Amino acid sequence: MMFQDKVILVTGAAGGVGHAIVRSFAAEGARVAICDRNHDAGTTLVKELGDQGFLVSGDVTEPDSCNAMVAKTVDHFGKLDVLVNGAGVIHVGDAQGTNPAQWRHVLSVNLDGAFYMSRAAMPHLLASGGSIVNIGSDFSFVGGEQLVAYCASKGGMLMMTKAMALDHANQGVRINIVCPTVIDTPMVDSLARQLGNPAEEQRKIYDASVPTGRMIAPQEVADSVLFLASDKAGHITGTSLVIDGGVTAR
Ligand SMILES: NC(=O)c1ccc[n+]([C@@H]2O[C@H](COP(=O)([O-])OP(=O)(O)OC[C@H]3O[C@@H](n4cnc5c(N)ncnc54)[C@H](O)[C@@H]3O)[C@@H](O)[C@H]2O)c1
Repeated sequence: MMFQDKVILVTGAAGGVGHAIVRSFAAEGARVAICDRNHDAGTTLVKELGDQGFLVSGDVTEPDSCNAMVAKTVDHFGKLDVLVNGAGVIHVGDAQGTNPAQWRHVLSVNLDGAFYMSRAAMPHLLASGGSIVNIGSDFSFVGGEQLVAYCASKGGMLMMTKAMALDHANQGVRINIVCPTVIDTPMVDSLARQLGNPAEEQRKIYDASVPTGRMIAPQEVADSVLFLASDKAGHITGTSLVIDGGVTAR
């Protein structure tokens, strides 16, 4: 199994993409620490994993919480091999429709949180020769209407990935980012609510927006995350793997 004896920490683990990532790593033999601010959903997921799972509920916007989640993971499993920064939120609005608190919330979860977690994890990743996989977006590369805060956060995450990859390239730690277009998860329900559309109608709109004719499945994101975290990607760092059915090829 590809991740036998490896220890993985996943943020946003209780979300749509997080579930697929956690289950995929566990199926490959990994032990997985589950980080999410949604304690109940995290508890349900961790039960499913038995001894392979460990719950470290917390808030990635708090540096102390990030330090504690990493420390608990290492205390429990003895080391850390892979950090996946998947916690994310979205706000629909242009500059006038995004107040300072909404701006800060999106930036603090999506960008600050990934930085605080990476910073806390780095000493352990240096020790294990591990890697980080960030969850970006097609909006890491292109702008999207009414998503000014989200695009800023995901664009920032792409550059953070590249900068950190260079800083640690000769220290045996790889840092990469996957950049999916719209994925069929509860985040789509959040977008539908914010746009005032029925969720099923919103899903049809998103399916039609992708050249291949459908949104990305959470499992397809997980497959790319596992590849980048694996030894098969041993010489890949600072790379973005775009999973977008051709959206950014236009
Ligand atoms: N769904 C999409 O269309 C889409 C597209 C591209 C990228 N992404 C990215 O994929 C990642 C996963 O998104 P998803 O679609 O699974 O969404 P989701 O809403 O299902 O999951 C996000 C998870 O993050 C958790 N979270 C939010 N704030 C947190 C915090 N402060 N601390 C800890 N956990 C927190 C939530 O509780 C939730 O479980 C996000 O980074 C998102 O931006 C999503």
